Amino acid sequence: MQKLIIKGKKVLSGEIKISGSKNASLPILAASILTKKTTLKNIPEVNDIFTMINLLKSIGFKCNFKKKDKSITISTNKFHTQNNVAPYRLVKTMRAGVLVLGPMLNKFRKAKVSLPGGCAIGSRPVDLHLMALKKLGAKIKIKNGYIHAKSDDGLKGAKISFSKISVGATENAILAAFGAKGKTVLSNCAVEPEIKDLIRYLNKIGGKITTKDRKIFINGVKKVKSISYRVMQDRIELGTYVIAASLVGKKIAFKNVEPNLIKTELKVLRKMGVKIKVTKNKILIFGNKQLKKIYLKTAPYPGFPTDLQAQIMVLMTQANGVSKISENIFENRFMHVSELKRMGADITIKNNQAVIRGPTHLSGAEVMATDLRASVSLVLAALIADNRTIINRIYHLDRGYENLEKKLKFCKANIKRV
Ligand code: UD1
Repeated sequence: MQKLIIKGKKVLSGEIKISGSKNASLPILAASILTKKTTLKNIPEVNDIFTMINLLKSIGFKCNFKKKDKSITISTNKFHTQNNVAPYRLVKTMRAGVLVLGPMLNKFRKAKVSLPGGCAIGSRPVDLHLMALKKLGAKIKIKNGYIHAKSDDGLKGAKISFSKISVGATENAILAAFGAKGKTVLSNCAVEPEIKDLIRYLNKIGGKITTKDRKIFINGVKKVKSISYRVMQDRIELGTYVIAASLVGKKIAFKNVEPNLIKTELKVLRKMGVKIKVTKNKILIFGNKQLKKIYLKTAPYPGFPTDLQAQIMVLMTQANGVSKISENIFENRFMHVSELKRMGADITIKNNQAVIRGPTHLSGAEVMATDLRASVSLVLAALIADNRTIINRIYHLDRGYENLEKKLKFCKANIKRV
């Protein structure tokens, strides 16, 4: 099994390039089921994307990934045998697999998709996805670990209000309502930039979708165009490296980025005392040795993202005083804490709140990655720790961070994969 070995305490400087967004690519790849042919650009080469590609292939699509320009062409023709099953072996490794449910119901009027099950950060049910599909007229049964859904007469537009804000359920509902007969109004939706990107893509293939605050209005369409689309950049990857730069950066530049995508995060970092310069499409981070404590809570966009909670916690270990962070999205997302404590962090957990006393000196240790964002937080901790840190189980990292070692090495980090 591969490991990362990092020798910390090196001051980093240079430029970090940001890849295409994993979380925007996944629903857009699922949406390509609706088309005859789609070319997507700026697709990150990470394992979750390959899992989705394998899922599309197993359904019967032809997928041609071009490494050179990070594009993928997904196509179907009458000679491909199509299959309406999304198998357990693929959905279990990546929950976003369940996003094929909405498009498959539109395309085939029936779908059998494995229930994704729980994961390290919480139970993560799909009840809201299923509620939305049922409201659109789908008949749904759960049998042998699979969701069996059908819509013999096609889906029909409906008014749907989500009891809780969910990114995935909003996406599945949009994807299903896209081809439903008539109008759909979704209320209390997630409004993450990745959802806006999905809507931009769907409108380009012929959709009629508008938004207002947390409402989404969808006029069902039947005609679908074949197009080419460039996926947005990864705001969580950007946020991760901006936090890394705040920890160990002398001067790190992020060019050709959209600073507005991480407006909340930049505000938090400035409050903590990080020196930041932002221009139209560039962010410069100068770091700061005198960081201030902060109280934070994770929340749906535009709030502070749960996907950056573990990373900002590492920065909190270097701030003066007692910082606090409440995790409001997932019930079990503090798995990185015990590993950070093994490196010397002073953190206590009470219910959904972590209390971080700083500044603490971190020292290298052998640690274990538990999920995607927890793993990257260990990389950040290793960058400021004394001596050598060995990070095990880095397959979690490879699910979502493209060329992590290469990007950090480019800024002179001492990091290698063995
Ligand atoms: C997406 C992101 C993930 C991010 C999360 C929250 C992708 C591929 N993944 O995950 O990186 O951490 O948003 O920003 O985009 N819930 C229910 N019932 C449901 C669905 C969700 O109770 O049917 C709950 C979840 O357990 C969780 C909360 O709603 O407590 C938010 O989850 P959700 O927004 O759905 O996360 P994902 O779409 O799975």
